Amino acid sequence: MACIVLISHDMNFRLRRLVICLTGIALLVPAGAQSQSAPQAEVAAAKAATAKGLTAGEFFKNVTSSTLKGLTPSDFLGAMGVMTAAVGYDCSNCHPGAGTDKFDWVTDRIPQKKTARRMVEMVAAINKQNFSGAQQVTCWTCHHGLDLPTTSVALDKLYGEPNDEKRDIVATGQGVPPAAQILDQYIQAMGGAQKLSTLKSFIATGHSEGYAGLGGNAAFQIFAQAPDSRGMWINFPDHPDRGIGSWTYDGKAGWISQPRSLLGVWELTGSDLAGAKLDSVLAFPGQIKTAFPNWRVGQEDTLHDRAVYVVQGSGPGGLLGTFYFDKQSHLMLRYVRQTPSPVGRISIQQDFDDYRDVNGIKFPFKYSFLWLDGRFTATISDIKVNVPVQAAKFTKP
Ligand code: HEC
Ligand code: HEC
Repeated sequence: MACIVLISHDMNFRLRRLVICLTGIALLVPAGAQSQSAPQAEVAAAKAATAKGLTAGEFFKNVTSSTLKGLTPSDFLGAMGVMTAAVGYDCSNCHPGAGTDKFDWVTDRIPQKKTARRMVEMVAAINKQNFSGAQQVTCWTCHHGLDLPTTSVALDKLYGEPNDEKRDIVATGQGVPPAAQILDQYIQAMGGAQKLSTLKSFIATGHSEGYAGLGGNAAFQIFAQAPDSRGMWINFPDHPDRGIGSWTYDGKAGWISQPRSLLGVWELTGSDLAGAKLDSVLAFPGQIKTAFPNWRVGQEDTLHDRAVYVVQGSGPGGLLGTFYFDKQSHLMLRYVRQTPSPVGRISIQQDFDDYRDVNGIKFPFKYSFLWLDGRFTATISDIKVNVPVQAAKFTKP
């Protein structure tokens, strides 16, 4: 059905399909046509639920695991994304009919769903019994994208390319400069502290493209107002029916609008909110040092064949930001932010390229965004600095 095409703009083929098809259904099926889940009512209720602060256990019908039931509904869905990616599934491998109009999120009919619930408890127990409760073991630790984990090394892998997977927590590097020095060099490269302090707002305009060019050309905009308001907006001028996707933060509260997602428009809470604040602070590079209370520098690394410094900030609630700075140009090539979930961290990655000078300040004209249920690249064609930005660009659409 139309669901894939509808949402492909920001999709990672596996995950996005499902979430969106669900919402596609919410739009297409009259309320009550589904005996189990009356999707329109559910979507409306979801919006209300997040506002009222219901937990996933209270809001959903059959959420009982000890660690997932206390999450907010949106954090719960983030955890579903982590589990799905870890075992190389899509939602329909555990939820019958996900992606069709005969879906049922509630039933435990598929044995893999029951196994997964057991695994959620197992992961909590392993970490508690062996690592004093620190999250050392997640679904990914064993599964690595396979539904049935392997137990022996493949000998051609043993003698093949070395495994270059990285641990989330950066181990302190040897012979690297202190974090403050690397961050200062970045500030300098972006235009210098003095110049950056004059940057009060900007509007970046361009277009974005979804996974593998699917989803067509979308209009893409970033609005930012110092010190910490930011809005990222995507819409399809040729297909207004696809609605507006937005990620906004106004200095206090934040919202995500994904017109065809399970929750539609929702207000960010918990770690989602802390992450949105972080993105907004970082929109103004002169503020980077204030973004985290603690910083460390990892071992030097390479990214796209460039030597990079890896600098990691950590903040309250398990928030992590990992930054890759080009050793030569000192510009930021990558920013990965991670927020905790009981089954593994939820990661969002942004890559930056094609830095150009606008009024003495550097801006990346190419962005890539990757997260657990989608990815897209945006090409900026115009940036205006220190122009008035409507407050509406930072709030709920
Ligand atoms: C590996 C199996 C697995 C996959 C894949 C999976 N889920 Fe789940 N899902 C579960 C389990 C287990 C629960 C119940 C959790 C609990 O009891 O705490 C659940 C519960 C849910 C619920 C609550 C339904 C209700 O009302 O009780 C929703 C909604 C949901 N999942 C959405 C998704 C979405 C969206 C995806 C794809 C991104 C997905 N799930 C992928 C295992 C899975
Ligand atoms: C300590 C290692 C380990 C961890 C951690 C782990 N699993 Fe598993 N999981 C396994 C093993 C081993 C099997 C296969 C068991 C078998 O073959 O009987 C399995 C099987 C499964 C299956 C059934 C696959 C099938 O086709 O029958 C699902 C679904 C699953 N795990 C989900 C998860 C999820 C979700 C998490 C995180 C909450 C997780 N697992 C964490 C080891 C692990």
